Amino acid sequence: DTAVAAPAAHKNPTVVAHRGASAYAPENTLAAIDKAAHMGFRWVENDVQRTKDGVLVIVHDDTLKRTTNVEKVFPGRAPWKVKDFTAAEIAKLDAGSWFGPRYKGARVPTLTQYMKRVSRNHQSLILEIKKPELYPGIERDTLRVLRKTGWLDRHHVKNKLVVQSFSADSVKKVHAQRPDIKTGFLGTPSTAQLPAYAKFADQINSTHTSISAGYVSAIHRLKGPHGKRLEIFTWTVDETAAARRAEGFGVNGIISNKPDVVRRAISD
Ligand code: G3P
Ligand code: CA
Repeated sequence: DTAVAAPAAHKNPTVVAHRGASAYAPENTLAAIDKAAHMGFRWVENDVQRTKDGVLVIVHDDTLKRTTNVEKVFPGRAPWKVKDFTAAEIAKLDAGSWFGPRYKGARVPTLTQYMKRVSRNHQSLILEIKKPELYPGIERDTLRVLRKTGWLDRHHVKNKLVVQSFSADSVKKVHAQRPDIKTGFLGTPSTAQLPAYAKFADQINSTHTSISAGYVSAIHRLKGPHGKRLEIFTWTVDETAAARRAEGFGVNGIISNKPDVVRRAISD
């Protein structure tokens, strides 16, 4: 049985800088995680997808349009899908100017570059496998890069990494391939469905508008695949009132584009 006694509401939720400190620097760039580090945030969240030639890159949308100058550099290549560009082509793109002139020249990082920077910054990471249905085998590819960059085999990194996805299938694959890794499912399964998710996910990470105190305690009553209480990191919370509401529910973590706003809200 995975059910455990109801705990007291979790205190001091972990504040996670969403896509890096993405209200203040271009999302999913090294500049955005550096910004989070400078602001004092240890935890960051980012998204991983795959290029045409099989390189994993950090980017949120499945096209390069919104966050790079791809239309200008490759005008004939609509609809500019990540999966239709090679890593060398993506490396030419400016992923900073759209956000502001001081970020001109920021790049779309590869997962390898990105993991090295997370290590250098002494940060911790929720890595989201984005749209895995577009990238068969991306779970294995991701685990390979994590292993090569020292993120799997060193014991001390185990509590510094969560791999999450909106796709239960993808989370199940990660859990099956590396049962030692902490995983998260993005969504809000019904309380009746939660025990099934608790078999392969350590976290249920729901949008903040979909949760309640009752839902959070239903999560906390279950044990995840590693025998610890199931956790919930809620997203994307950028306002004081919403941060206080989530904190009141006892969530374990709050994922925010404006982590400073959340930190201020919950420390009062
Ligand atoms: O970590 C939660 C959040 O990142 C999921 O939504 O679209 O921002 O990747 P999205
Ligand atoms: Ca994400």
